[in-house]
Amino acid sequence: MEKKVVSRLTPWIFLLAIPLFYLEIMWSNNIQLQQPNLLKIDRKSFQSAHSNKTVRLNLNSLDFLLSRLVQGEEQSNFRATGFSCDAQIHSKHCVTTRPSQIDTATMTVSIPSDCPAQETSLRPYARQEDEILLRKVTPVKIIHGGNTTLLICDHRHSVPAVVFSSSGFAGNVFHEINEIIIPLFITTNLFNSSVLFIMEDYRPSFVAKYGKILNRLSSHPILNPAANRSVHCFPAVVVGLKFHGHLSINANEIPKGLTTPIFRRFLRESLDLKYSHVSQIERPTVMLLSRTTTRRIINEEQVVAMMEDLGFRVVVVARAKTVSNIDVFSRMINSCSVFVGAHGAGLTNEVFLPDGAVMVQVDLIGLEWAAANYYGEPARGMGVHYLRYKIEPEESSLLKIFGSRSHKAITDPTGAFPLHIGREVYLNGQNVNISIDKFRHTMAMAMSLVQH
Ligand SMILES: *[C@@H]1O[C@H](CO)[C@@H](O)[C@H](O)[C@H]1NC(C)=O
Ligand SMILES: *[C@@H]1O[C@H](CO)[C@@H](O)[C@H](O)[C@H]1NC(C)=O
Ligand SMILES: *[C@@H]1O[C@H](CO)[C@@H](O)[C@H](O)[C@H]1NC(C)=O
Ligand SMILES: *[C@@H]1O[C@H](CO)[C@@H](O)[C@H](O)[C@H]1NC(C)=O
Ligand SMILES: *[C@@H]1O[C@H](CO)[C@@H](O)[C@H](O)[C@H]1NC(C)=O
Repeated sequence: MEKKVVSRLTPWIFLLAIPLFYLEIMWSNNIQLQQPNLLKIDRKSFQSAHSNKTVRLNLNSLDFLLSRLVQGEEQSNFRATGFSCDAQIHSKHCVTTRPSQIDTATMTVSIPSDCPAQETSLRPYARQEDEILLRKVTPVKIIHGGNTTLLICDHRHSVPAVVFSSSGFAGNVFHEINEIIIPLFITTNLFNSSVLFIMEDYRPSFVAKYGKILNRLSSHPILNPAANRSVHCFPAVVVGLKFHGHLSINANEIPKGLTTPIFRRFLRESLDLKYSHVSQIERPTVMLLSRTTTRRIINEEQVVAMMEDLGFRVVVVARAKTVSNIDVFSRMINSCSVFVGAHGAGLTNEVFLPDGAVMVQVDLIGLEWAAANYYGEPARGMGVHYLRYKIEPEESSLLKIFGSRSHKAITDPTGAFPLHIGREVYLNGQNVNISIDKFRHTMAMAMSLVQH
């Protein structure tokens, strides 16, 4: 019975693979913007030997790939107009399969078509809910249809363009990976690197830091619009990046089928990381991320001694320079079995842990929600064990400040202060003196998970 199902599926799997083989052929064609008819899709029908159903396959694989960035219910509109936008809470992106022009001097995308004129503006950053942040992101104007007057192309490109911004929380690894790197992977991995990035609000430091990842996603030089103000023509364009969730990828969301493990494999390949599973690491090793200004573990030496006592090799990293060097730090984290730290952006580096490793987060007062949503749940989605070390008020420096366990600041952190003051208190005004006896239990559990 099972065998039959498999043999029935085989031709389908084969047919699904066909568009991929046409990638190279299609994209090496010199696409002429003035003759959009040349781009009319050459559809062919296949009669499957095992079914009476005619499968209509779009051999123009670029169209096929772009349609994966469009929600199901939008597909028919997209086929009719060659243009579609998708707006969710966090991300917004627009896709066109029509030959288009991008004037990088004004960041205007013109999509010629005989549809009624339609104008959209969007700031391509995957944190659409953050109005203050979005002000830093240069808007892109998209003009679709309405007999657009065409400019002369200064540069013709044979691959689609993807427009996004490297603005945002410059230098913060959580935001960079959460809102740019992962959404960029979600949106562009399907192009098999035949895609050109137009990076607005271009930050050379970002390009240097994530160079290996960017180079793997696109085999073309990144275009900095501010340094190259001219009219660029493309066979297709995507503006904005798709976001699925904090440090995670959901197979059920467009482009469908991508998962966090696929992303982690991509990271390992891009950054040359050695370990895919924790069992490949000979001696259980802990990486303790030491914070030096806020959210410090003040009795770090005792913590390290306790970990060593349990049989761990312990690596303590404090230098910001080391942590922000992705090429170096990703390899360090990847060779560890357990990653320990207080809540903070540095924990984003959990993405480089091997499968089966353990993430231990020291969960401070008032930061439970962020701790769980930004690092705890995502770790589980990565195939990494997550252990939460919830501190008692006695371990927090805030107890001394507020005097008593029953103070509202301790019992009800979310209700005690307005947001901006709460940030100062819990995020910037709190250190921790870890109870060694209590933390030993957590670390012993971590050891039992990684020991072999
Ligand atoms: C992706 O690109 C590489 C190199 O450019 C090529 O060897 C490979 O066949 C491509 N894969 C697909 C599925 O098109
Ligand atoms: C295939 O389907 C069509 C219509 O759905 C039907 O008329 C035809 O007889 C079918 N052919 C076979 C071989 O089952
Ligand atoms: C585009 O131009 C044609 C011919 O000049 C005209 O018939 C048509 O109405 C125009 N369409 C729009 C949307 O302006
Ligand atoms: C602008 O971009 C085009 C194509 O990407 C490139 O050929 C050209 O050298 C660039 N010009 C400058 C000034 O960088
Ligand atoms: C940390 O807590 C221990 C008791 O668990 C206490 O003996 C020690 O003095 C505390 N350290 C500081 C700096 O408060």
